[in-house]
Amino acid sequence: MTDDRSWGRAADRLAAEHRGEPTRWVEELWATEERDEVDLPWDRTDPFPDVADFVASLGRGAGRRAVVVGAALGADAEALARAGWDTVAFDISASAVWLARQRYPESSVHYREGNLLELSDDLVGAFDLVVEVFTVQAMPPSVRSQATAGIRRLLAPGGTAVVVQFVRGDADPDDGPPWLLDRAEMESFAGDDVTLADLQVRPSPRGEGGQIWVGTLRR
Ligand SMILES: C[S@@+](CC[C@H](N)C(=O)[O-])C[C@H]1O[C@@H](n2cnc3c(N)ncnc32)[C@H](O)[C@@H]1O
Repeated sequence: MTDDRSWGRAADRLAAEHRGEPTRWVEELWATEERDEVDLPWDRTDPFPDVADFVASLGRGAGRRAVVVGAALGADAEALARAGWDTVAFDISASAVWLARQRYPESSVHYREGNLLELSDDLVGAFDLVVEVFTVQAMPPSVRSQATAGIRRLLAPGGTAVVVQFVRGDADPDDGPPWLLDRAEMESFAGDDVTLADLQVRPSPRGEGGQIWVGTLRR
């Protein structure tokens, strides 16, 4: 243990230590946080702005089913629940799920552990709305097609998904985390009977520069 509380530096170190195990670094990072060795990662309470705008365009959820993939501390899931969606929020990390439940003890969101790469049967084809922000880019390219297929598999017939990743520029390193996406990789979210209905490049709302992809999928 060091006195360096930067979760970003811990992420780089853990990903290097566990190269070849695509999801191990995030699980280790959340566990490190639970031991109070690093600051809280991905700590936000407001919904991601581009997601909030897209969800608003769909009207009230009115009990329709939504899922947040890699839900972390629950900000997007809570916004969906407030908008009337019957919301599941899953994360591969038990520590992240525990923290989200602690943060929102009265929540109607169904927080649970889950792995996008190994979906349990009850999640497959179950959702009218799928929300994914920066989770696919948290896994290396070796599992990218499995991850994008996982997003498609969550969608019910007639369902829609919104996916957000950072744009990979020519000067960006190959190595992650995160492992940024280029246009072809964003287009590969489509497949089977799921189409990419819209793909936009927007400035990152996080204020540190860079651009994000905002993609919309439809089954
Ligand atoms: C980069 S963080 C983004 C968190 C959140 N979506 C946000 O935008 O603040 C990625 C999250 O996805 C989770 N995650 C990574 N791989 C996953 C997988 N295969 N299945 C489910 N969750 C995963 C991580 O534990 C982490 O909470």
